[in-house]
Amino acid sequence: MRYSNSEKIYERAVKIIPGGVNSPVRAFKSVDKTYPIFVNRGKGSKVYDEDGNEYIDYICSWGPLILGHNNEIVLNGVREAIELGSSFGLPTKMEVELAELVCKCYPSMDMIRFTTSGTEATMAAVRVARAFTNRNKILKFEGCYHGHSDSLLVSSGSGLLTDGYQDSNGITEGVLKDTLVAKFGDVEGVRAILESEEVAALIMEPVPANMGLIDSSKEFLTAMRDICTETGTLLIFDEVISGFRVALGGAQEYYGITPDITTLGKIIGGGYPVGAFGGKKEIMDMIAPVGRVYHAGTLSGNPVAVRAGFEMVSYLMKNKEILYKELEEKVVYITDKIEELGEKYEVPIKINRLGSLFTIFFTNLEEVTALNHVIDSNTEHYSVYFNTLLDNGVIAPPSKYEAHFVSIEHSKEDLDKTLEVIELAFKKIGELNGK
Ligand SMILES: Cc1ncc(COP(=O)(O)O)c(C=O)c1O
Repeated sequence: MRYSNSEKIYERAVKIIPGGVNSPVRAFKSVDKTYPIFVNRGKGSKVYDEDGNEYIDYICSWGPLILGHNNEIVLNGVREAIELGSSFGLPTKMEVELAELVCKCYPSMDMIRFTTSGTEATMAAVRVARAFTNRNKILKFEGCYHGHSDSLLVSSGSGLLTDGYQDSNGITEGVLKDTLVAKFGDVEGVRAILESEEVAALIMEPVPANMGLIDSSKEFLTAMRDICTETGTLLIFDEVISGFRVALGGAQEYYGITPDITTLGKIIGGGYPVGAFGGKKEIMDMIAPVGRVYHAGTLSGNPVAVRAGFEMVSYLMKNKEILYKELEEKVVYITDKIEELGEKYEVPIKINRLGSLFTIFFTNLEEVTALNHVIDSNTEHYSVYFNTLLDNGVIAPPSKYEAHFVSIEHSKEDLDKTLEVIELAFKKIGELNGK
């Protein structure tokens, strides 16, 4: 692979944009690269960089591209919407249509509000939960990422973990003291906190995917639901990643648990900038102009983005019977074969998978269920894996703390080509280990 154009663009970027990127994981720092690739375009299962290199893509814009890059149906909708105007700052019919579709898929939401990002959705969800309960504190799990608003950047996952820390600087003592943290899976820890403190909301990724993919369970989520109900704490499911991915109705449908508030993100914009939060009517009635919890946005419910989301969600609804089964089959196929390669080259790995998501942890552990397991997994092996794939036309997440995403466009040929390259990577890792 040649990367000379990407390198030149990076030299310009780093002078004018901190780290040369607009979101830290994109810098490829934790996988020993001095600069990232700069993407020029995407189609189907592939992205193409500024040097003309083609890659089978397992990032898929961090989740939304279930239908692959530049899906024709979404693109046609966007083309029509663009012809009508870019943004009005006034309501449009399409916002209502998308709202109706999403609420149909998520019966826990009587009402919904659109935002422009997942960060805005979780930030607003926390605010409305505080107002509804008249309580200040919130509880989150270590290693779960809910965007970059102040109160949620505590013991966080994703790019913070990638860069080797969990708490951002620049957050006031007051905010820090109001954010409590528990360990994912620790029912008694959560109970102790919620029974002793007045907590407005427990916000959680029902399927954590920002410290790599971590197994969840119906039992754990049921316990969270019950403890929240008993203590008057609102349960917020942050389904920015799991929504429309682990099932049409997200983790709440998959596990059969009803949260009080749900947050959704990028997926409901079909890859365009949309987020949303929603829940029971009495909670959503707190929001201005009905109530006095302020939430707004010039680009909230942007007509082009909601049209993309409408096309995407309509397609998922129409095709859900086969689509989710096929996505899962692809992941089962590739991960079973990766496990075989791990055995063949004596590379210790543990794969967590659910629906169209999976993470390969380079570890001797039988189970990866907690943040410390992920932190202890082998960063050097992950880097060899990532770099071998990149140099051979496959792009995996540039961090061991993220999930791989598969789309309906990933063909059997793509998966087999990926496996050939993973074999090269595992051979190298085996040699590093002296096998
Ligand atoms: C679970 C979760 N919540 C919130 C967010 C923030 O979304 P955004 O990046 O659109 O602000 C993310 C981002 O990946 C996420 O994974």
